[in-house]
Amino acid sequence: MSKLKMGIIGLGRMGMEHAKHLASMPGKVDALCACALDDEQLAIAQELGFKTTYKDYKKMLDQEDIEAIVVASPTDLHPEMCEYILKHPKKIHIFCEKPLDTNVEDETASLQVYHLVKEAGVKFQIGFNRRMDKQYRNAYEQIQAGNIGTPQIVKITSRDPFVIPIDLIKRIGGLLVDFTMHDFDMARYMMGSNIKEIYAKGGILIEPELATVNDIDTLALVLEFENGTFGLIDNSRQAVYGYDVRVEVFGSEGMLKIENVNDSTVEYYNKTNESQKNPLPIFMDRYEGAYISEMERFISSVVNDTPVVCSIEDVILAQRAAAAGLESLLTGKPVTIDNQL
Ligand SMILES: NC(=O)c1ccc[n+]([C@@H]2O[C@H](COP(=O)([O-])OP(=O)(O)OC[C@H]3O[C@@H](n4cnc5c(N)ncnc54)[C@H](O)[C@@H]3O)[C@@H](O)[C@H]2O)c1
Repeated sequence: MSKLKMGIIGLGRMGMEHAKHLASMPGKVDALCACALDDEQLAIAQELGFKTTYKDYKKMLDQEDIEAIVVASPTDLHPEMCEYILKHPKKIHIFCEKPLDTNVEDETASLQVYHLVKEAGVKFQIGFNRRMDKQYRNAYEQIQAGNIGTPQIVKITSRDPFVIPIDLIKRIGGLLVDFTMHDFDMARYMMGSNIKEIYAKGGILIEPELATVNDIDTLALVLEFENGTFGLIDNSRQAVYGYDVRVEVFGSEGMLKIENVNDSTVEYYNKTNESQKNPLPIFMDRYEGAYISEMERFISSVVNDTPVVCSIEDVILAQRAAAAGLESLLTGKPVTIDNQL
């Protein structure tokens, strides 16, 4: 496999993870350049081995000889950055962090990127990393192999360990847009069907300040899929015991459960108590393997011209589910989704 010349935009919580992984793949990647606004982050990228750094992504694209780029800037910048990359005379493949836009109610910008991807004929992979997690992958493959017969119900629990800063929410979107987004994708992926209808109930039980950005911290969703099956999702912004993400898929011939991962198998018992390790503390720890695998899969899709593991269609349909969830919260009624693209 020849080395892919790559750059990255954004070196924050997520981008720095991707930068570390790209730098650890010297046999596959030529890590050429990195862009961020923060000097300290740019210095770390240089230490990792990125040859040049920039504060202006347009300048970086114009000056650097890159074949593929990772977009890990705040979500509200994804549409304009993807558009610039896709209209650039150089043919550049894109790995873009999820979602494609914070504005899920108005799809204009996302659809513009969708059409540009099709016109440019480049690979576009969205960062739905859970698809490449070892445990989810195993469950997905078992569903495909027919081990639980026909899937009938999917149940997903996703709870973050703490409320993220309000300023970050302004840039990456509220609970349904940023966080539940992963669950919408996982639900579609596991059930092999698009979401047809959503009924949402949610509110603020943890952090009153979320009202200032029109967000919530607690959410319960009922889903119906196009193939007639059902789903349940529950979310919280604050599970005091760690990053709690579990999935169950129930089918005509059995059930698959994907439990939390922890870093210890030790169980402690005494006269009055028993204890097991809590789940891992945060997404970076839980999904490190998935972040590496999704990047390897993207690189392999570009180099070998094979399909990406999650496409621009997947993110647009997950965004439609988020928009329907927001509408259901407002109206108190179930909302149907048009999945035509
Ligand atoms: N897949 C996952 O599990 C996961 C987890 C966390 C975040 N994310 C996604 O990653 C993306 C980034 O989120 P984050 O939490 O890392 O944000 P962050 O605020 O921590 O980092 C943002 C980065 O973008 C850079 N940036 C901001 N404006 C820029 C500009 N105009 N030009 C160049 N660089 C600019 C900043 O300097 C910083 O390096 C979001 O889309 C978010 O949804 C995904």
